[in-house]
Amino acid sequence: MNHLILAIDTSCDDTSAAVTQGTVVYSNVVASQTELHKPFGGVFPTVAKQAHKENIDRVVALALKRAGVTMAEISAVAVTQGPGLAPALEVGITKAKALASEFHKPLIAVNHIEAHALSPLARARGGAPTSSNSPRLPALAVVISGGHSLFILVKAIGEYEVLGTTIDDAAGECLDKVGRLVNLGYPAGPVIEKFAKLGNPKAYPLPLPMTHIHDFNLSFSGLKTHARTMVERLTQDKPLGKQEVYDFCASIQYAVFRHICYKLSKILSSQQIHEVWLGGGVSANVALRTEIRRTIREHERELRTRKESQRNASVAHTAIRFRAPYTKRLCIDNAAMIGVVAGWKLERGEVELEPEKVDRKPRLSLKK
Ligand code: KG4
Ligand code: ZN
Repeated sequence: MNHLILAIDTSCDDTSAAVTQGTVVYSNVVASQTELHKPFGGVFPTVAKQAHKENIDRVVALALKRAGVTMAEISAVAVTQGPGLAPALEVGITKAKALASEFHKPLIAVNHIEAHALSPLARARGGAPTSSNSPRLPALAVVISGGHSLFILVKAIGEYEVLGTTIDDAAGECLDKVGRLVNLGYPAGPVIEKFAKLGNPKAYPLPLPMTHIHDFNLSFSGLKTHARTMVERLTQDKPLGKQEVYDFCASIQYAVFRHICYKLSKILSSQQIHEVWLGGGVSANVALRTEIRRTIREHERELRTRKESQRNASVAHTAIRFRAPYTKRLCIDNAAMIGVVAGWKLERGEVELEPEKVDRKPRLSLKK
């Protein structure tokens, strides 16, 4: 794991490049396009492509500069192959291929979802490696972003089983769409977190979805419809007041996170999991981290009570470890998480044998 990797991610609306070594992040540059997409209330693919093209050279140069390395010291170039927006992915892949070819480096294609899943394992440069850095497996990766919401069983690094996924919208997408109903701008997720702190989560009760279905899938479109009906009813006579908006944000955030944690607790009861890893844009939300920690502790309490009642108290109980990215930059789309995955792939010799043929895979899924 001594190899330095230059990684690139242009899967959606952030242009990012990073230098990593194993799980250590040397640099992680993200040029955000949020302001460009605000007028559209979402990401506009052709605008994203153009902005990636304008940013990519500068972002790559800055990632190398901040890491204090040159291309000569880089062992491999990694890039997001998918899933993502096709025109956006293309820019990063083209740049990665050009760099790999010019500097004679191997090319590593990375799955963006796998990268979000492993992002909690990334470490800051300078910290001494400790035994707590090595993950205990199997772990459960919970990826909650604007494009994805999944529960992934990590049997080994590189060996995954998707236990559940959203059957409609992603959680972040739901927050963004509901936020738009009360004019919170784009993306609404971070604003909802801020306003929710000032509101009452029980003010506007929303249903808990999918309780009658005993799988681990998620669904957020029903919550979105409920929220829309609620806003229409509340604004029939006058616009929402400040406190009502805060209460509404607290209520929708509570409903979304309660749904995730309900399914999480079902998974924890169904199989032995040693660690829970939270990744994806929504993992920046402190309330979500708190709710997940609370769900884990509750599960452990139940387990202890059950063991005690079975006079089985002697069975050693090891706590489930919770990990989330050490900085917000690793929650949103970024290239450092791509580099972290590539580090393991390089160790396993999983490099592209025909780099010139690597193409974008907008619908790439996580099956291995
Ligand atoms: O991972 P990401 O940058 O892009 C995707 O791969 O989708 O995630 C973006 C999503 C958006 O929906 C945004 O509203 C949400 O993450 N988000 C948050 C927070 N920060 C970003 N949602 C809730 N609370 C936050 N603090
Ligand atoms: Zn993402």
